[in-house]
Amino acid sequence: MPSSTLTRTRLATVLVAVAALVPALVAVSPARAADGGRPGISKKHFGTLAGGRKIDVYTLRNASGMRVKILTYGGILQSIEVPDSEGKRANVTLGFDNLSDYVKKSPYFGCITGRYANRIAKGRFTLDGKTYRLATNDGPNHLHGGTKGFDKRVWKADPFTRGGSVGLALTYTSPDGEEGYPGTLRTRVVYTLTGDNRIRMDYRATTSRPTVVNLTNHAYFNLRGEGNGRILGHELQINASRYTPVDKTLIPTGKIARLGGTPLDFREPTAIGDRVNSKNQQIVRGGGYDHNYVLDGRGLRTAATVVEPDSGRVLEVITDQPGLQFYSGNFLDGTLRGTGGRLYPKRSGFALESQHFPDSPNHANFPSTVLRPGDVYRTTTIYAFSTVS
Ligand code: BGC
Repeated sequence: MPSSTLTRTRLATVLVAVAALVPALVAVSPARAADGGRPGISKKHFGTLAGGRKIDVYTLRNASGMRVKILTYGGILQSIEVPDSEGKRANVTLGFDNLSDYVKKSPYFGCITGRYANRIAKGRFTLDGKTYRLATNDGPNHLHGGTKGFDKRVWKADPFTRGGSVGLALTYTSPDGEEGYPGTLRTRVVYTLTGDNRIRMDYRATTSRPTVVNLTNHAYFNLRGEGNGRILGHELQINASRYTPVDKTLIPTGKIARLGGTPLDFREPTAIGDRVNSKNQQIVRGGGYDHNYVLDGRGLRTAATVVEPDSGRVLEVITDQPGLQFYSGNFLDGTLRGTGGRLYPKRSGFALESQHFPDSPNHANFPSTVLRPGDVYRTTTIYAFSTVS
């Protein structure tokens, strides 16, 4: 896939900067001093659901002081602490400091999203001649698995350490018919925090009956630190030359259109804020960016790179999926108070959701999301963090 010279230069700078940073982190990171520099994982009580089920938070840390917190509720990435170009850590993902806000108000912060991430038109699809009806929880459409999707389920957690990595394997069995989907779906999501500041997510699912499945993680990022202003200055590059245009209800029209010449084209690194208020019909429909990009290339490859110029933090999203939803936090409205106690205004976080295309079950020309008994659904996405100075 053609990557711009600017991006190549930037990535090279990132690599050099990270290499230069390693000794500095060893010397200054308080986490390292406190932890003895060994990767580790610990568990604490986070809250109790109305029905009495207890929810834990696991804290994963690696040898360079990166720290990730994961909840057994929704498999939520509750906090991701990464260093800036001077080694100062901040939590770069939006979230809450308490369980009740996740249950009552979360716009899918950090969660495992399923069974079908993104939208299914009118909550309806037909598979092998049978029509299935799902909840319509987003205007006329079905969104992110329905009224009680994977983001609101309690996952069983098994921590592990492996070499320089530490991880958490989460499992959930979704019964046949749950939220209207056919088949018992046995799901496993393994989060691994590696020694080189990557969060790797390996998804696996099997079914007892033919069904559709599309899993993702819905983390919102602000590389300045959550609650620290808007994301408009973040420079984004997406390795996609096409996308799936949407109708007024954000359902794909079925067309696969070229991005060239539109303000949705991010093949060259561009600040998110530069064109977000464009009068382009697609951007108006999304209230900003809320579109599925058809990624170039195949296999595990870089889908997007985000550079935050003030902090020097860099996020790379690497995935084997065909699509990536870029959502610029348009529906954040300043009413949610985040983990650090500050309100989240509009566009104070963005999401890059690796996925199959929205509404695939109703579009024969999109890559299939059908899973049949005996087949194994497997997919991997990585959030790779680094810095540039
Ligand atoms: C969707 C947005 C939605 C957001 C939060 C994104 O995946 O594309 O339209 O508002 O999730 O639910």
